[in-house]
Amino acid sequence: MTIDASTVQPLWDLPTNHDRLAEHVHLKDRVIVDVGCGAGGLVRFLRAAGASPIGVECGEAMIRQAREADTEYADAYLDGVGQDLPIEDDSADVVIFSYSLHHVPVEHMTAALAEAGRVLRAGGELVVLEPIAEGPGFETHRPIDDETVVRAQAQSALDNDRPGDLTETASYRYTTAYSYFDMAELEKVLIDIDSERRAAFESVKDEVDVLFHEHGEEHGGRYWFPQPVLMRIFTKN
Ligand SMILES: C[S@@+](CC[C@H](N)C(=O)[O-])C[C@H]1O[C@@H](n2cnc3c(N)ncnc32)[C@H](O)[C@@H]1O
Repeated sequence: MTIDASTVQPLWDLPTNHDRLAEHVHLKDRVIVDVGCGAGGLVRFLRAAGASPIGVECGEAMIRQAREADTEYADAYLDGVGQDLPIEDDSADVVIFSYSLHHVPVEHMTAALAEAGRVLRAGGELVVLEPIAEGPGFETHRPIDDETVVRAQAQSALDNDRPGDLTETASYRYTTAYSYFDMAELEKVLIDIDSERRAAFESVKDEVDVLFHEHGEEHGGRYWFPQPVLMRIFTKN
């Protein structure tokens, strides 16, 4: 089932990806692996929702931020990549890739999906949230790193290369929003995710600055950008 939950609400009132996950995925008392957990915001949200989350991350700056923001649970963040998860077989109720599958190198996407299948117990769910390559936010980021191809490759891997025992059981398309205080915050966020963007950012900074102010909707001291998202859920037989 695909629900198009586009809305006329102001951007700053739109449900977040965390809200959408809580709406569509049972979280409480579940062991959840967040693959490519970044700075750990989702891991902390999942714990607050009653889950036992484990974050897996390969970015040095990211995992440091995650552990520093969650010192009591620093051990819940493991160094690792999606294509070689440091997690036992059949041990997770849910595996989440939130905006991270398209960061797995394309030659490893099939392995990453196989790894998700390996660590999930029977009846467990793989949940993949991917930003769709369209809209003002995407157009603002595009000169720095055009992710059109890798995002399509992530969807194609899900369609064609996932393990045979993962059946797609739901999908939801909705619009969320993200916001930045200023261009400096945008720069930090994008470069923390992938340090190779630093050089590109320097060369297109003026162009991005124009797009940022053209597309960003100002509210509460921040600039807001809509982002269409596809959430796909696969259940392990
Ligand atoms: C756009 S960020 C998303 C962070 C977080 N999941 C979120 O939703 O905010 C993409 C993340 O994928 C991570 N990543 C890069 N290569 C990866 C790989 N091979 N396997 C898993 N994650 C990877 C990056 O380090 C980065 O933290």
